[in-house]
Amino acid sequence: MITLGIESSCDETSVAILEDQKIVVNHIYSQVEHTSFGGVVPEIASRAHLEKIDRLTLSALKESSLTLRDIDLIAVTDSPGLAGALLVGVSFAMGIHNGWGIPITGVNHLEGHIFSAMLENPQLQFPFLAMVVSGGHTAIYKILDTGNYTCLGQTVDDAAGEAFDKVGKLLGFEYPAGRSIEQEAAISPEDTGITFPVARVSGGPFDFSFSGLKTAVKYYLAGKDSTFIKENRPAICKAFQKAVIDSLLGRLSEASRKTGIREVALVGGVACNGALRQEMKKIFGERAYFPRPGLCTDNAAMIAMAGYKRKEKNLTHFPRMEPSRGL
Ligand code: KG4
Ligand code: ZN
Repeated sequence: MITLGIESSCDETSVAILEDQKIVVNHIYSQVEHTSFGGVVPEIASRAHLEKIDRLTLSALKESSLTLRDIDLIAVTDSPGLAGALLVGVSFAMGIHNGWGIPITGVNHLEGHIFSAMLENPQLQFPFLAMVVSGGHTAIYKILDTGNYTCLGQTVDDAAGEAFDKVGKLLGFEYPAGRSIEQEAAISPEDTGITFPVARVSGGPFDFSFSGLKTAVKYYLAGKDSTFIKENRPAICKAFQKAVIDSLLGRLSEASRKTGIREVALVGGVACNGALRQEMKKIFGERAYFPRPGLCTDNAAMIAMAGYKRKEKNLTHFPRMEPSRGL
């Protein structure tokens, strides 16, 4: 089965083609248009998607030596995301669906991230726990089967990626700052004497909070001169990153113990973080699954995979654009 995946929920325009569960092409355009604004500007995102989506589709078809006649299913992200950005992908996909009569399904973006763990990892089977850590979401889900997901816990304020980006801004890094913080932390000496607190949340046992951590870094930096910050930036990054990792893996370990589910998948942009992956491997060993970094951040291959899995279980549905729908 050939699936055409389309993703445009935030600031990546992506078109992918899967042959069954194998990636044939996965074209991604990461919008650089937002860099000088320090965050994603919704209107600019929509326009940039509009400029790229048809060209990406044509080049994906050309590179895979296929035409639209060969496509068996279109899978498009219909939620959650920026309204205008989602609208571009959904309208484009609906145009192909209507014009060519190709079956179509909507896919939830978080569901896409979860299924990114199964791309290139055929050993991963249901049930498993998925920790989604991205710029917009941080949550642990129990995944019993396609379409059968239970949220066990989530952030009560900022997402983990958002914390990386906000702390990065305080430290003078460009948006998005996750990768820069990881690289800076890697050059820090082992023992620095700097630590930041890991927040406990009074809500659910598997809930997270990252806004207190961001404030702790902010207060730590207040009153320090620029020479001190420059010299200690690697140590500050390392301490911040450690607090995020301890918080994420603490909850995930508890969730695994409570549910008795030992297979765990780490997905979403923050799953690119090598220190986080390494610590997770120490705890879960062979039972920890990760997409390769290029499949952690937003891409259409994961959307096509979720569509393929929905088709397999007869769970396809017409796209229904809902910018704030959860999983
Ligand atoms: O999944 P994603 O591409 O977009 C959303 O759906 O949000 O995630 C983007 C997030 C950004 O906040 C970025 O700073 C973070 O992933 N990120 C990282 C790393 N690479 C990307 N965070 C920590 N370490 C990284 N290496
Ligand atoms: Zn995402």
